Amino acid sequence: MTHEGSNRPPAQISGARGGLDGIIAGHTSLSTVGVSGVGLTYLGYAIEDLAEKATFEEVAFLLLFGHLPNDSELSKFRVRLISQRSIPEPLCKTLEMIPAAAHPMDVLRTAVSMLGTLEPEKGFEDAVRVAERLIACMPAVLTYWVRFHRDGTRLSSWSRGDSIAEQFLWDLRDRSPSELETQAMNVSLILYAEHEWNASTFTARVIASTLSDFYSAITGGIGALRGPLHGGANEAAMELIDRMSDSAMAERELLAMLARKEKVMGFGHRVYKGCDPRSDVIKPWAQKLCRATGNETLFAISETIEHVMRREKGMFPNVDFYSASLYRSLEIPTALFTPIFVLSRLTGWSAHILEQRADNRLIRPLAEYTGPAPRAWVSLEERD
Ligand code: ACO
Repeated sequence: MTHEGSNRPPAQISGARGGLDGIIAGHTSLSTVGVSGVGLTYLGYAIEDLAEKATFEEVAFLLLFGHLPNDSELSKFRVRLISQRSIPEPLCKTLEMIPAAAHPMDVLRTAVSMLGTLEPEKGFEDAVRVAERLIACMPAVLTYWVRFHRDGTRLSSWSRGDSIAEQFLWDLRDRSPSELETQAMNVSLILYAEHEWNASTFTARVIASTLSDFYSAITGGIGALRGPLHGGANEAAMELIDRMSDSAMAERELLAMLARKEKVMGFGHRVYKGCDPRSDVIKPWAQKLCRATGNETLFAISETIEHVMRREKGMFPNVDFYSASLYRSLEIPTALFTPIFVLSRLTGWSAHILEQRADNRLIRPLAEYTGPAPRAWVSLEERD
């Protein structure tokens, strides 16, 4: 439909099937996703190398500052993060008031919003401080809320664990994690850190593009990540695997689901067409941990689901699928799977907010109008 006198350019639907499918909406120097022959890289570094050789803190620094830290930069960064783990008292009180039955994603969303009132961003030059503060304290926020509602503990010492991976596992389970457990957690945090213009990052960038504050952009990102088509898929995948008692049942149930045209969470991807490189990295870690913790059946069921999806639909697991068995082997409650994604993706979102602000233009696309033609006003008395 066109309006006489409209100065809008002719409308075009972006992407054949909507959803901005295949549309380049902007540029980034932070990561490559699905670029043929390149794979997934963060600022040029292959995800496989980062997962094998880096710590999550090095990757966080890389994303925030654009280069890998040298020894001195890394130790200063680590010290800054450790010194900013503690939660202000009013936020502790807020966490205690949030119901135990709340979804932990809602807890994180609320906590970021609350922190924004307690420690607001003081101009854009304050952005990196806010980013570091969020990366440093959100693991503590999550474990504080969990432990308070689980066993009445008010966590107050934040010195346990030299890394975010170690601290999170330690505070959550109240025991020092093994080297293998810390390494697996570290790899998982690295894999979830950044992924170009995905739905939650896009949300954060749209908010940043209005020149809104850092906390608002992060809060929006958390909201977008929560859904099962995005970050929530790791929880949904676990719930699916949990319904299966063995591989034979998994085969039967999967075939029935596919016959009913149901989606299997943890499979498929908007951008990747042949495989998700993050899944190839996380799967061997999931296998190692499942073996070490007596969860072989869980892993066998997961592999059966993968085989059926490949055979019947030609579909591959995305990063969320094997993250589920990995987290289960770490004895992490299912409801915390997507919140862990947040603890990691805070780095990527932060880097994108900084990148958006550095070369900002309001993100405001068009929509093709499909509603009724212009019509006369009908008064309340005259309506049917
Ligand atoms: N299980 C079964 N069928 C699927 C799946 C799946 N997981 N994913 C896509 N399909 C099918 C669809 O039913 C559809 O079939 P049709 O053409 O016969 O109707 C076709 O493949 C295309 O699916 P769309 O949903 O249109 O593809 P889109 O590119 O929009 O979807 C998405 C990408 C949302 C990731 C999709 O694959 C999906 O829903 N997967 C499950 C959720 C999931 O794992 N999300 C995590 C993504 S990774 C991340 O966010 C970290």
